[in-house]
Amino acid sequence: MVVRGRATMETMSSGPLVLPNLTGDRVTLRAWRTTDVGVVQEASQDRFITALTTVPQTSGESEALAFIERQHERLRSREAYVFAIADTEDRAVGHIGLFHAGERWARASVGYWIGPSQRRRGYAADALATLTAWARRLDDLDRVELYVEPWNEGSWRAAERAGYVREGLLRAWERVDGSPQDMYMYAQVTERVQHAEQEGRAAP
Ligand SMILES: CC(C)(COP(=O)(O)OP(=O)(O)OC[C@H]1O[C@@H](n2cnc3c(N)ncnc32)[C@H](O)[C@@H]1OP(=O)(O)O)[C@@H](O)C(=O)NCCC(=O)NCCS
Repeated sequence: MVVRGRATMETMSSGPLVLPNLTGDRVTLRAWRTTDVGVVQEASQDRFITALTTVPQTSGESEALAFIERQHERLRSREAYVFAIADTEDRAVGHIGLFHAGERWARASVGYWIGPSQRRRGYAADALATLTAWARRLDDLDRVELYVEPWNEGSWRAAERAGYVREGLLRAWERVDGSPQDMYMYAQVTERVQHAEQEGRAAP
């Protein structure tokens, strides 16, 4: 995994968010391209992904291209760092994004999915580990979180593989398809907070 230098999530600046290229053991995280349209069309067939995300419910090419354009808009509007997850041959296999909770809070949450035909190859775990290694070095964050339904074992196992710790169960945390869902809260603190904790003091 390659992570260099320190940076911030740029919450205080203006202009589009600048996406780094992040390299993991099995995946690279990079900007979405129009040529990645196939994995979005495949993800459209997964009812859970379309309920949780803006992946279209139909698998038409123009709808999938619009999804990809929305990811670039999220960078322009500074909503989130959103990456395509690419395999060792640079084919997109999924999606991962880091969403800052806002300037008032020094925390961000992670969302992700892997195309149905590409699952159980370690891609989600490696993408999470790679994104999180970068995010844990951002100066304007203290913690990185993710929320997982208790039944979604693949997701919480990927989170645990990437070093996340389950902190508890959030009851009726979020509506999915109109129904309140309990979520496990998983988190990691940033490197700076971890060092401060180890030294028994508050982070500067
Ligand atoms: C959840 C999801 C991202 C997992 O992606 P993946 O690339 O298949 O996960 P990985 O291959 O990295 O597997 C990570 C771990 O979970 C396990 N796992 C994966 N899918 C599993 C499943 N369906 N049931 C039980 N365990 C599973 C793997 O065996 C691996 O375990 P290990 O660490 O003990 O070796 C994928 O199934 C998905 O996109 N689901 C729909 C969208 C979604 O749920 N997103 C997350 C919302 S919180």
